[in-house]
Amino acid sequence: MKKIKDIVNEKPYMAWVLFGVTVIVVFLAGLFGASIIERRGEAQDRLTALKPINEWEPRNEVWGESFPREYESYIKTLDTSFASKYGGSAKVDMLEREPNLVVLWAGYAFSRDYNQGRGHYYAIKDIRNTLRTDVPQPATCWTCKSTDVPRLMNQMGVANYYKQKWSDLGGEVVNAIGCQDCHDPKTMNLHITRPALAEAYSRMGKDITKATHQEMRSLVCAQCHVEYYFKGKEEKYLTFPWDGGMTVDDMEKYYDGVEHVDFVHSLSKTPILKAQHPDFEVFKMGIHAQRGVSCADCHMPYKSDGGVKFTDHHIQSPLNNISGSCQVCHRESEETLRENVYERQDKIKELLLAAEHAIVKAHVETKTALDAGAKAEDLKEIHKLIRHAQWRWDYIAASHGAPFHAPLESARVLSSSIQKAHEAQIQLAILLTKLGIKYPISLPDLSTKEKAQAYIGLDMKKLNEAKTEWLKTVPAEWDKKAEARQATY
Ligand code: HEC
Ligand code: HEC
Ligand code: HEC
Ligand code: HEC
Repeated sequence: MKKIKDIVNEKPYMAWVLFGVTVIVVFLAGLFGASIIERRGEAQDRLTALKPINEWEPRNEVWGESFPREYESYIKTLDTSFASKYGGSAKVDMLEREPNLVVLWAGYAFSRDYNQGRGHYYAIKDIRNTLRTDVPQPATCWTCKSTDVPRLMNQMGVANYYKQKWSDLGGEVVNAIGCQDCHDPKTMNLHITRPALAEAYSRMGKDITKATHQEMRSLVCAQCHVEYYFKGKEEKYLTFPWDGGMTVDDMEKYYDGVEHVDFVHSLSKTPILKAQHPDFEVFKMGIHAQRGVSCADCHMPYKSDGGVKFTDHHIQSPLNNISGSCQVCHRESEETLRENVYERQDKIKELLLAAEHAIVKAHVETKTALDAGAKAEDLKEIHKLIRHAQWRWDYIAASHGAPFHAPLESARVLSSSIQKAHEAQIQLAILLTKLGIKYPISLPDLSTKEKAQAYIGLDMKKLNEAKTEWLKTVPAEWDKKAEARQATY
């Protein structure tokens, strides 16, 4: 092969050609570099607020003045028009859809009222409206509802904030979930505002400040979309039960270890664990998480507007935007992808219903045994089986999106739930026979929400009347109090 030196020696003009080519290459590289710097500058400009945003600013509309695209897409979470087969933003009365839930939660406020989750902008409205907040609740309940929470925690101290009564902070917590929850107002970087997540990480020996950018695109959601409990009778300290690991079995062991009980079932007297919404934990067991896909990849895809690429803040069911959410990575048609989701959801639903049915039966049979004089001693093992069966069923039922996020894990957890409920039933059959009761016993008519609520002894008319009265006066007072304060930010 000839060397450049030899070529130049043979044809001296080649030196000038080489020189020219080099000049052009350097010039183009320079242009390219300048354009990158300019683009970065543009992106940086877009990330600098027009007016500095107050460190604890809770009002989304104030952030929206500087970031109109993100704000305008975010307030679309007010849209309730989309319903998929199992999810979506429409208001769905889950107790009406599945009256068995009323019996499973007998003795707990969820048996009064439980709607499917809707968009973030409804968080305050929905927690005010639910019959569940008629029961005295701690301020901890506000934690995943509002941008006012980081401000209050800073003002009052975290432990002190949790200790307040829910109703005492009504005039303080008025801005729905928003910018402050996920963004640092100075840099617009993603940040963690809920201490419970950082504390759970540190108890697992992990430092959340070391999380990668892609991890943060899921961790901002994991501030709220997780399993948790209120630790301590007085403290009500928000705690994630992850010390021994994040699987359903690890958390069950944790809760048994600290003898945590969310409520005692009013029919069977079982000490029940109510699962919250372990969306993040179940998601982590699925293939997308294992391939490094984040919550934001599907629920907050990129969008383009007038040549500007930005993150769609209309957080919702990805089935309402399959092209933006899935087709970035998958080549299949929208129909195929939707069918892929429905197929997984349909199959998990079958298992979910089988688990529900078996656990409801176990509760009713235990009640029959108690009425016939069964002793606490006779029921020890049965109570434990029902507790674990219901925890495992609820873990999947309450984890929105689980049947798609991690279908295999959902099936594993539900099959262990069914197995435990059936084991309880076998022991109940023996016990009932000993007590002289003919097995199987027949279930009451639980075909509607009303019938189920009457069966567990709820006076819904009275509860609804009291709530209507409360809604007429208290929320307006809270809003008035908040308005006067917000003018002072
Ligand atoms: C690979 C895409 C994908 C990823 C990643 C993903 N999800 Fe989902 N998610 C879905 C789909 C699809 C559904 C089902 C929507 C439906 O049934 O309408 C769903 C459902 C949900 C729902 C219930 C929504 C509804 O309308 O009922 C919530 C809440 C949710 N996901 C939260 C999360 C969180 C939190 C993360 C991260 C920990 C996450 N998702 C990661 C695709 C995804
Ligand atoms: C500060 C707490 C909080 C954070 C942070 C949060 N969520 Fe939510 N999310 C909620 C609550 C509460 C609801 C239910 C609101 C209602 O029904 O009133 C909800 C509802 C949803 C829904 C259902 C909306 C619908 O239309 O079906 C989806 C999907 C969802 N969140 C996904 C996410 C994703 C993805 C992230 C992270 C990018 C995230 N959330 C971060 C608290 C939070
Ligand atoms: C539930 C968490 C969450 C909430 C609430 C939220 N964001 Fe974001 N935001 C994100 C995520 C995730 C990204 C993508 C960040 C990335 O990958 O760097 C993002 C990106 C952005 C960006 C960077 C540019 C872009 O569009 O990618 C801006 C600006 C922004 N958000 C503004 C806002 C504003 C204004 C609000 C309130 C109206 C808001 N965000 C509410 C999670 C959130
Ligand atoms: C950021 C890229 C990305 C996005 C966005 C994404 N996926 Fe995937 N998806 C993957 C990867 C990677 C896998 C694993 C397959 C592999 O590694 O070959 C996967 C696997 C799947 C599978 C097979 C999973 C199983 O149960 O075995 C289905 C179904 C699927 N995706 C549907 C969807 C749907 C529906 C959406 C939109 C809601 C979506 N994906 C969004 C990257 C993505």
